[in-house]
Amino acid sequence: MIKEKSNWNLNDTALVPYWIYTDPDIYLKELENIWYGDHWIYCGLEIEVPEPGNYRTLILGQRPVIMVRNSADQISVMENRCAHRGTKVCWNRSGKSAELTCPYHQWTYDLNGNLMGVPFRRGINGEGGMPKDFKTSDHNLRQLKVEVVNGVVWASFSIQTPPFREYIGPKMWRHYERIFSGKKLRVIGYNRQRVDGNWKLVLENNKDAYHGALLHAFFATFGLFRPDQKTAMEMDESGRHACITSIMASGGANAVASSLPGFDASLNLQDPRLIQAVKELSGDETMGSSTIFPSVILLQQVNSIQARQIVPRGPGSFDFIWTHIGFDDDDDEMRERRVRHANLFGPSGLVSADDAEVIRMAQQGFEMSASEGYALSLMGGRSIENANNQASESTTRGMYQYYRKIMEI
Ligand code: FES
Ligand SMILES: [Fe+2]
Repeated sequence: MIKEKSNWNLNDTALVPYWIYTDPDIYLKELENIWYGDHWIYCGLEIEVPEPGNYRTLILGQRPVIMVRNSADQISVMENRCAHRGTKVCWNRSGKSAELTCPYHQWTYDLNGNLMGVPFRRGINGEGGMPKDFKTSDHNLRQLKVEVVNGVVWASFSIQTPPFREYIGPKMWRHYERIFSGKKLRVIGYNRQRVDGNWKLVLENNKDAYHGALLHAFFATFGLFRPDQKTAMEMDESGRHACITSIMASGGANAVASSLPGFDASLNLQDPRLIQAVKELSGDETMGSSTIFPSVILLQQVNSIQARQIVPRGPGSFDFIWTHIGFDDDDDEMRERRVRHANLFGPSGLVSADDAEVIRMAQQGFEMSASEGYALSLMGGRSIENANNQASESTTRGMYQYYRKIMEI
């Protein structure tokens, strides 16, 4: 059925047909082949469940799961779906409990998802109850494969998913380790937003250095990201993950920056601390933005570090959950700095508010002409290679090369 719709030129990933973003059959296939396939999905940070019994509920793809620290001090991730009649076992966003009890008929599971108790299992006054051959061990919560990598929790619905480090490859590992070196993390805060656009658009947006200084007037005006600054875009072997790194140019705006439409040399920040960063991570780059396909963007800009988690909600909508991250040894000044810098990001961030708006408008454009239009990723040509400038959409082409393979289209 999907094949019939295909008008996608076989060798092309530079022209992406609009129906990829709008078609419900495509979306269902994405859930199966990508979100529930051989991929690691971001769950959160290890420190979000610090002690045995601490849990958080979240959604991976469209499946509710529970991330919990069990009594053996290990993190497990299991489906939040009661074996009895499918109800969500755990309804709170987070909490602490010695066991998990389903609200419907009070079936109780241990912190590994093993079914421990079934009320009236032997009936009431000798009447009713479960059949004699009922075994609790046949009805545990489904466990996911889990890996905790330098403080970040990843889960996969497939047991075949390779180890995380192999999954992202050596190039992306360098960018990952730059932020997540194993140093103990802390949560600065959360934002949540719903964006009326296809989930792939936010991955494209975060692989897209081209728009950075053009859309984001704040970046260009205050010098955080300008078109002529040294920028690199790097992919893993498969093309599905990518990282943009950039080095902020010193000195004032030059001719390229001054020619940008949003640039206004007369503007100054009343409180320059809003963007004043201290160097804390390795490397020369002043920002790094990694898209770990398909579920998260790990980004550092100034002293703001974020995990931006993607939760798809159908072809035309996704939830975007921001975790603002710091390190356990941050002093009060650093913590305050991170909070201040977080003003640039999140749903109403001075920079990031722009992205949600353009994603929504792109989706509207696709829906108006779903069967015939194409999104273009032609900057830098048609080839798929790493780039060292902002005028390239090569990493978006790279993602679609992988996407076509995994989606068999
Ligand atoms: S649905 Fe969970 S106990 Fe019945
Ligand atoms: Fe952006």
